Amino acid sequence: VPNGLAQTPPMGWNSWNKFACNVNEKVIRATADAIASNGMREAGYEYVVIDDCWHGTRDANGFITEDRERFPSGLKALGDYIHGKGLKFGIYSDAGTKTCGGRPGSQGHEYQDAIQYARWGVDYLKYDWCSTGVRNAEEAYATMADALKASGRPILFSMCEWGNNRPWLWGQKMGNMWRTTGDITDKWTGKHNYSWGVASIVDMNEPLWPYAGPGHWNDPDMLEVGNGGLTDTEYRAHFSLWAMMAAPLIAGNDVATMNQATRDILLNREVIAVDQDRLGQQGRRVARDGTSEVWVKQMADGGRTLLLWNRGETLARITAEWTTLGLPADVRLKARDLWAHKDLGRMSRRYSAEVAPHGVAMVRLNP
Ligand code: GLA
Repeated sequence: VPNGLAQTPPMGWNSWNKFACNVNEKVIRATADAIASNGMREAGYEYVVIDDCWHGTRDANGFITEDRERFPSGLKALGDYIHGKGLKFGIYSDAGTKTCGGRPGSQGHEYQDAIQYARWGVDYLKYDWCSTGVRNAEEAYATMADALKASGRPILFSMCEWGNNRPWLWGQKMGNMWRTTGDITDKWTGKHNYSWGVASIVDMNEPLWPYAGPGHWNDPDMLEVGNGGLTDTEYRAHFSLWAMMAAPLIAGNDVATMNQATRDILLNREVIAVDQDRLGQQGRRVARDGTSEVWVKQMADGGRTLLLWNRGETLARITAEWTTLGLPADVRLKARDLWAHKDLGRMSRRYSAEVAPHGVAMVRLNP
């Protein structure tokens, strides 16, 4: 992507999963305050993104305005506030006539909108795909990318057309990330109306591993960690799988009120480091036996991150053979458990562990 942004997967927070259309400047400020003071900023969470429903109407010249009831101080002031906390500012629009929440879309106003975003100090745009009619997706996303470029401000471009037009085939020409699926929901698996549980999203995103790399990432949607629908074991699996897939880590919970267990997941720096590895390889499943899976991600330092995932309902012993990971059987590797934060010593041939139902074991292997 010509803008040079997102050399590692973007990290931040987005309002949608928790607050949906109930956004206002109080919520956004409280979120920025929390990220700047609870360790998230230092752990890498950077973008504070207002999703749908911040929009007011277009002014007489066609420029978009903010909803002044929800954002009485205006988005320029809010952007300044976020920047003042050492964070970056993101917003949301749509390639059609209306956003998914029925607010004004950017179709026909792309260049004006990009200018307005740049005036507000926007650093990140999530661009949705509702009310697009017969529009060609590649053309529509290219138009907004050109408009962002013409604004003169570096703006990370997050493309959200749900994988309908296979954006992994063309998205890296104009975007830094593209959604590969419909919306995530705070459930373990399955399809629920128009959204999917975590495990189902993983199955859709995993095969796309060849298309991800520095500057351009597959986006299996924002995190549900801490939203209450899953157990902490399941949330650890969710977070670990996103890290293995080099997915954008966009928290989607109320970070101002989260409990310690949620904090420990979102702030696990060893897991974050796997996501943020500068090689930028998307990890993948290399073995599956019923509901037991073995995943591997190659790391920039020559090591591997190994994930054992138990999708089943009972405790399972899962074994990863070095040969399955593409390593010689007899090589002795240092192993470190990234959730227990414990060195496990050197081992050869295989790593094996008992994994809780819906849980993972995540281990870094190094020569
Ligand atoms: C779509 C997107 C979601 C969210 C909503 C907002 O469903 O996929 O991530 O942005 O629109 O209305």
